[in-house]
Amino acid sequence: MKTEEPRTIYLKDYRPSPYLIETVDLDVALAPENTRVRSRLKVKPNDDPDAPAGPLTLDGEKLELHSVKINGTPINDYTADDQSLTITSPPEGPFEVEIETTCNPQANEALEGLYRSGGIYCTQCEPEGFRRITYFIDRPDVLARYRVRVEADKREAPVLLANGNLVEDGDLDDGRHFAVWEDPFPKPSYLFALVGGNLACVQDSFITKTGRAIDLRIYVEPGKEGRCGWAMESLKTAMRWDEERFGLEYDLDIYMIVAVSDFNMGAMENKGLNVFNDKLILARPDIATDTDYESIEAVIAHEYFHNWTGNRVTCRDWFQLCLKEGLTVFRDQEFTADQRSRPVKRIEDVRLLRARQFSEDAGPLAHPVRPSSFVEINNFYTLTVYEKGGELCRMLHTMLGEDGFQAGMKLYFERHDGQAVTVEDFVAAMADANDRDLSQFMRWYNQAGTPEVVCRFEHDASEKTAKLHVTQVHAPSPGQPEKEPVPIPLRIGLVGPDGEDMPLILKNGSEVPGGLLMVTEREQTFEFADVAHRPIPSLLRGFSAPVKLSSPLDDADLDFLMRHDSDLFNRWQAAQTQAMKRLVAMARGEGEFVPDVREFALAVGPTLTDDWLEPAYRAAFAVPPSELDIAQEIGADVDPTGVHKARRDLRATLGHTLQGDLQRLYEDYAVPGEYQPDPDSVGKRSLRNTALALLAAEETEDGVKRAQTHFKNADNMTDSMAALRILAGLDRPERDEALETFYDRWKDEQLVLDKWFAIQAQSTASDTLDRVERLRRHPAFSIKNPNRVRALIGALAHGNPLHFHSADGRGYEFVGESIMEIDGFNPMIAARLASAFSSWKMLEPGRRAMAQQMLERIAAKEGLSRDTSEVVGKMLG
Ligand code: ARG
Ligand code: ZN
Repeated sequence: MKTEEPRTIYLKDYRPSPYLIETVDLDVALAPENTRVRSRLKVKPNDDPDAPAGPLTLDGEKLELHSVKINGTPINDYTADDQSLTITSPPEGPFEVEIETTCNPQANEALEGLYRSGGIYCTQCEPEGFRRITYFIDRPDVLARYRVRVEADKREAPVLLANGNLVEDGDLDDGRHFAVWEDPFPKPSYLFALVGGNLACVQDSFITKTGRAIDLRIYVEPGKEGRCGWAMESLKTAMRWDEERFGLEYDLDIYMIVAVSDFNMGAMENKGLNVFNDKLILARPDIATDTDYESIEAVIAHEYFHNWTGNRVTCRDWFQLCLKEGLTVFRDQEFTADQRSRPVKRIEDVRLLRARQFSEDAGPLAHPVRPSSFVEINNFYTLTVYEKGGELCRMLHTMLGEDGFQAGMKLYFERHDGQAVTVEDFVAAMADANDRDLSQFMRWYNQAGTPEVVCRFEHDASEKTAKLHVTQVHAPSPGQPEKEPVPIPLRIGLVGPDGEDMPLILKNGSEVPGGLLMVTEREQTFEFADVAHRPIPSLLRGFSAPVKLSSPLDDADLDFLMRHDSDLFNRWQAAQTQAMKRLVAMARGEGEFVPDVREFALAVGPTLTDDWLEPAYRAAFAVPPSELDIAQEIGADVDPTGVHKARRDLRATLGHTLQGDLQRLYEDYAVPGEYQPDPDSVGKRSLRNTALALLAAEETEDGVKRAQTHFKNADNMTDSMAALRILAGLDRPERDEALETFYDRWKDEQLVLDKWFAIQAQSTASDTLDRVERLRRHPAFSIKNPNRVRALIGALAHGNPLHFHSADGRGYEFVGESIMEIDGFNPMIAARLASAFSSWKMLEPGRRAMAQQMLERIAAKEGLSRDTSEVVGKMLG
């Protein structure tokens, strides 16, 4: 086998496929090491003048080729290598290709294509996995109708599933059986799925708005049926919501979900047959936390929403990934906001965006929401494509309003149902439905980096006017030295001395609807009339654009907003800004400026104890910016130990200063009765557990005791984990005691064991790296299982900056070695781990040198995958 030359693929080089495929007839005989696939394709030349017919090239990887026929006759004028099969001179006009191949699901540890997980055959085809099942034109703009016959040993795989409707099944000789599935909707190959195995089924049904009954099925490992209730409820809630809010109804008569334990990502939206990482399906109060329940609800919804935004209208090419992902993320965020607390959901999403996407955008892996080139598309399932992509849809929604946005969606489906389209097509539908010019908005899709918005505010008491000067600044990013200004929806309010919003009237006398200003120039000034008293500007309300705001507010202004802003997001933001100023000063160890942390803690108190506010919001209010945020704010020569200490001290001060309040919250917010994952109970537990953690932040006897008791008395996983997280961070015997108790109780529950691994890998206790090295050799650890790898190695690399960036380089060593090992069989997971090094250039010199050395070692590794070498190459470049 020749080794492939990593080749860069450019958006500008897009050409339509020279051939199209109308129907696919697959016949798959499952066997662990030798699965035989016969494929019959109806091929026709594409009549697009940009795609002249010629040789027919089909993608294929890791396949053994047995025969090729054209129109029923075996041929041998073809060439095949490790990536493709080329039929040199195909007939003119439509023709039929028949190909027989075999593949080895058992040996497939990359978990792309057809593989086995815990004895279950399953597939992952997005983005380019179908080519590991059979030779095909494996690109999303080739849409075909599929008919799939699957056969297998009946004892090994009593359940046989594929996309669409079951049309036939029956027994064969030798204890084998078969099933035939037909999907009436043309689809790209990445939405293909096939499953076979011994699976139990939980069934329910849903009546659509037009009265059709949909058969709903969740397939899980036998014995786990009792853990599917929440996933099923979530599915029905999502189906109803999409009808009510977006007017979208499900299209097939059956919707199936299969849970598997080895999965590279969260879940996959295959048409009518979703495949899920089982951690996003299985839940029971004693084994799943409130956060798990919320993630299950959100991901079930996300994959369901893809049926329209992704499947019915799909992507022309993989550069357009955000077309389906950004839009579907926006839809799932709105879904959660409608089910639960809107401000808290916004805060959680912005926290994630800032900690992970902003740092991606500021470093060597920065890329536009729609990239213009890539080496390995798997490396572009990023926070930028997903989360920033979601923010772009949210900005369109903000600019056009709910009705305008829905009108755009309607036009988008009218124009493009059944097609593979581009971001331009989506934005054009939004523009045309609203009679708006959105051409400048395209810059958001094409420019990388987080824009900075600098604001200056002036008030003239004698004239009763105010001015807001806004400047947008765009730092260069890899390959993009110069950038154009983007349209920024800037939602603002002017908060008067009484804490109420003042009317927002422009100089020409017109009121600003919804407080929404549009910034379109590099520099712009807005003038307001009738401003009698000096107001405090509340800027970027609801985080109306994914930008970094440099605000003109001083401590007194922020303190005021922290107590009075009617926009709950900005009220939280004021507290974050106040905390950040102090954290940065403390982390830098600035001797002269001793920040007043106690003052800040006292200002948090009133919101924390305000019974008019939702408990979940109050809990979020008391969580300071993450260590990743603080590091980014510092920007250069970062010492992660200093950052960690600063945050720890701030939390200890919060706990100490607000002790009385926190104790009362802890007592008052116990949730009586049986565990329920409803938003109200979740909020109360969250507030109570926040109090518990802050009270223990100083590590007083009293605080530790309370956590211990909490752990012992916990009757659900949320409380148990909240206490264990505290105890696992202590350099005291209470830690080992708790971890052992937990292990003994849960050693047979794989998903709970993941929590046990992760909590230790994220621990700030001094011996964490020793422990992580020991856990790496623990009999329950498996480097082949992505959930375990994420639980141990991922949790350290992405979730424990203190120890990953250990000053002696041991964290880098551990993670780096693991990356090199994993790269040998699962490049996608290896490359994702490698991205933990992405902000290495902003570290202090000692760590910077060690991180660089490790990256160079990885880069030099023989046979390094295309995935990891692209990521590491960009980081070093
Ligand atoms: N489309 C899936 C989602 O809902 C993600 C699949 C990603 N898979 C991959 N191999 N990169 O977001
Ligand atoms: Zn998705």
